Amino acid sequence: MPAPSADALKRQAAAVALEAVAPGMRLGLGTGSTAAHFVDLLGEKVKAGLDVLCVPTSERTRAQAQALGVPLATLEEAPELDLAVDGADEFDAQLRLIKGGGGALLREKIVAAAAKRFIVITDESKKVATLGAFPLPVEIDVFGAKATRLHVERAAKDLGLSGTVAPRLKPDGHVFVTDGGHLILDCAFGAIADPEALALRLSAIPGVFEHGLFIGLTTAVVVAGRDGVETLGRLDPA
Ligand code: A5P
Repeated sequence: MPAPSADALKRQAAAVALEAVAPGMRLGLGTGSTAAHFVDLLGEKVKAGLDVLCVPTSERTRAQAQALGVPLATLEEAPELDLAVDGADEFDAQLRLIKGGGGALLREKIVAAAAKRFIVITDESKKVATLGAFPLPVEIDVFGAKATRLHVERAAKDLGLSGTVAPRLKPDGHVFVTDGGHLILDCAFGAIADPEALALRLSAIPGVFEHGLFIGLTTAVVVAGRDGVETLGRLDPA
């Protein structure tokens, strides 16, 4: 039998996370190709009668969920969520993540923090021993972007990190702008030995809205691989 594609693995992980959804729940919906599988499967359940209320983390996810008839709310309307489900760009054994490859990290982190449980769905390619092979996205204000970038570079240097810190561009060469109207700096630091220290330093910089280090937020990571689906952490409520 041929090995399952990365896309098939992402869908398997999404299907496992769907088992954690119960009628009446308020859900946070992530962004990215893996989260899109979850939204798709959730849409099937909603069509079959499942009653949930969902807060999307991006306009992209909002459009997908809306098209599938998934009932939506803003985080203003539903500020406390039972569960958020999202993908990740990297995760480690301590369930620390790098997110933001899709440019939605600020809303993703706000939604994850508003949820009692945060389940991350991934394929096995996202597992790393040390975070940082994926360039760390940092969401910043347009105002003073160059000054903020210098602060980010200095904070990294103080922690022994170097590498390019570059504003994200779209494939057409124009600068990438988030749903909230912000910029993203992609920081190619390589291995981040102390993610907690870097997170603290980045959060202290004026002009930084959020960074893509998700620490202490994840309840479970569902990892789909060629040998089956593995769950790190707890899928069920504690
Ligand atoms: C979106 O901003 C990201 O945090 C995504 O969750 C992350 O990039 C994972 O995306 P994929 O599921 O497409 O790999």
